[in-house]
Amino acid sequence: MIDRDRLAVLLTAERERFAVANPRSKAAYDEATHLFGRVPMTWMNKRAGGFPLYLASARGASVTDLDGHSYVDLCLGDTGAMAGHSPEPVIAAVQRRFAEGGITAMMPTPDAAWVGAELARRFGLPYWSFSLTATDANRWAIRLARALTGRRRILFNSYCYHGSVDESLIVLADGRPASRAGNVGEPYDVLQTSRVVEFNDADGLERELAYGDVAAVVMEPALTNIGIVLPEPGYLDAVRAITRRHDVLLVNDETHTFSAGPGGATALWSLDPDIVTIGKAIAGGIPCGAYGLSADLAEQALGRSDLDLVDMGGVGGTLAGNPVSMAAARACLESVLTDVAFEHMIALTTRLAAALRVAIASHQLPWSVSQLGARVEFRYADPPPRDGTSSAAAADEELDDYLHVFAANRGVLLTPFHNMALTCPATTESDVDTYAEVFTAALLDLG
Ligand SMILES: Cc1ncc(COP(=O)(O)O)c(C=O)c1O
Repeated sequence: MIDRDRLAVLLTAERERFAVANPRSKAAYDEATHLFGRVPMTWMNKRAGGFPLYLASARGASVTDLDGHSYVDLCLGDTGAMAGHSPEPVIAAVQRRFAEGGITAMMPTPDAAWVGAELARRFGLPYWSFSLTATDANRWAIRLARALTGRRRILFNSYCYHGSVDESLIVLADGRPASRAGNVGEPYDVLQTSRVVEFNDADGLERELAYGDVAAVVMEPALTNIGIVLPEPGYLDAVRAITRRHDVLLVNDETHTFSAGPGGATALWSLDPDIVTIGKAIAGGIPCGAYGLSADLAEQALGRSDLDLVDMGGVGGTLAGNPVSMAAARACLESVLTDVAFEHMIALTTRLAAALRVAIASHQLPWSVSQLGARVEFRYADPPPRDGTSSAAAADEELDDYLHVFAANRGVLLTPFHNMALTCPATTESDVDTYAEVFTAALLDLG
């Protein structure tokens, strides 16, 4: 359906326009000679335009780059800024903390207990602990799961992403488990530490758990890192029933699926995991991750004198639960990512999803649109892929790059990875309509 020659010409033209419009970002990139890959973190080299845009400032749903362009930000730090950029209550809480003194002190603050209680109310798990990232929340949840079950392996869905968690870099390739392509310095053979099944494949899960060596299933209730892949009716109930039957712990990673609502997909779909992990948005952009445990697991873990949960047993970080993260998380959950805010975000995202569907249909493209609350994504496949592997097969990097640079050149920022658009409490109707117009214009140019 896509004329590849035309696409290549359009992409070159958009990149030229991008380079002309962004000389300061380009110069900053060229000058960063002592950064590994010229960027603070190597994933920032995922740059559709040829170099990354440099941030000058950001507020609400808008960011401004070094060249003075303002953008409607639908990337929102790939969920880290789902509360919006620098929301006032979070700024105030952090400034108060800075002014009082005590940024990190190896002492708890009462904010942490408030946040724990609020996460318990939202996600239904009674006991919470903190990290600085979702990756670490997953790592520590996995360690606890291994310790408490006495089993070694962790099961993941093919093409999942849970951060740079060693065990999770496993996929199905031609139906067989394999280390994910590009796995950097694999510390041990992932085939020995992990099992993998497709999302939406309850029979596959039953088969893999029957080996009896899996401590936990770590999964997103909907895949969000290979497009959005939604669960089919009955699938998540089957996952819970099968994991229970095999005495395997179920870990819901809500880092992205938090977009589904105030209590993530866990609350929206009445799920009953043993552990929830989360990070990114919960502290309004200040680093903070968390994991919540069932009463039974917490009691078992604390009752085990052989587990060093206090010193160097492998679960912990000096800065985890620091006063700034806790003050920010409290402000964010109390006053920013509220029930009312989610209603607003989800309504706008539903409006955007409808507009994207209209644009795709009017160009008769075989693409589909999936929505998970405040997050929406189109995929180059129709019907929408039902698992990670088929969604991966529908990827088209050149088309992604074109659509991303086209949008950036017209004032809309999308996540650098695939085609996710996310709304925050400050996003407006006009913001989502602008993106829908830009997207429609990009399709028009494609012919
Ligand atoms: C579902 C999920 N879990 C965990 C992570 C890791 O988050 P972080 O990189 O902030 O540790 C990500 C990052 O994209 C994610 O999508």
